[in-house]
Amino acid sequence: MKKILILYYSQSGQLKRVLDSFLSDLEDEEIKLDIKEITPKVKYPFPWPFYQFFDEFPESVFLDGCEINELEDLEDDYDMIILGYTVWYMAPSIPITAFMHSEQAKKVFKDKPVVTLVACRDMWVLAQEKVKEMLKAVDAKLIDHVALTDQGGSVLSLVTLPGFLLTGKKKPFMFFPPAGIKDSDIQEASRFGKRLNEALHQDKEKSGEALLKNLNAVSVNGKLIATEKIADRSFKIWSRLIKASGEKYSFGRKVIISIYVCFLITLLLTVVPLNILARKILNIFQKDKLKIMEDYYELPSGR
Ligand SMILES: Cc1cc2nc3c(=O)[nH]c(=O)nc-3n(C[C@H](O)[C@H](O)[C@H](O)COP(=O)(O)O)c2cc1C
Repeated sequence: MKKILILYYSQSGQLKRVLDSFLSDLEDEEIKLDIKEITPKVKYPFPWPFYQFFDEFPESVFLDGCEINELEDLEDDYDMIILGYTVWYMAPSIPITAFMHSEQAKKVFKDKPVVTLVACRDMWVLAQEKVKEMLKAVDAKLIDHVALTDQGGSVLSLVTLPGFLLTGKKKPFMFFPPAGIKDSDIQEASRFGKRLNEALHQDKEKSGEALLKNLNAVSVNGKLIATEKIADRSFKIWSRLIKASGEKYSFGRKVIISIYVCFLITLLLTVVPLNILARKILNIFQKDKLKIMEDYYELPSGR
């Protein structure tokens, strides 16, 4: 009998739907699942009030975490752990960060093979680098990574995701698709659990090798990596400013957040389109470099 621990935090339930599909062909009489939801002591609201949505920005970026409830009945002899997370401001969501920094994480992850599953808008590469560091810190062994992203690509989802997060509505409008991950992509996530089931029956998780190769588990768009790195640097500067302007949810923070949002909208309407165009031209001359980066960030599972 093998025991698999599944840890996740999902706010609107989208990541949970992805996980349910992922796990649908994993369990059988020889493989048992222990699914645990990480819960913050103070629930984050959904849909998000405008200022609170941006108020969580510095704490996400600086990986501060939040107070979470201790997980009950956690065992210490799991054969594999699946960590399902979403991305908040190019970092793992605050409750996931909190868990990864906890004493329970140190105990449960030690020497265990881990599969990470991310479900987010489009930008997860740097968040996954942070998760890799967190896993290293608790002596876990990352063996696979799966990433599902929103429909509509990186430009249209810049409108549909905030719309969904601030109103709770996913419906398509004008030429915009529905917000979130395509239903068919969610359904097809069952292929990962099926493959893990076969591998666990053959003890392959003990080899330390990736088990989800050739399943299109991840597909990194090399052209987005530079944008993520620039945005991450700018996030750190603005996070420092927002933190310095006052306590969480204070009036001081609201003032700086208002300036930041105006800055962001101006950036999105001016610099971002110019940057996309410049990168398109530059990337023609950097194909080999981009390929090397894509291959690196797609590890361990690859396409
Ligand atoms: C505060 C906040 C910040 C987010 N930042 C990002 C981001 O930087 N990159 C990204 O791809 N998705 C981002 N998302 C989208 C989430 O990763 C995720 O797709 C969405 O919140 C739905 O997840 P759920 O299952 O928890 O409801 C953000 C969501 C929230 C709430």
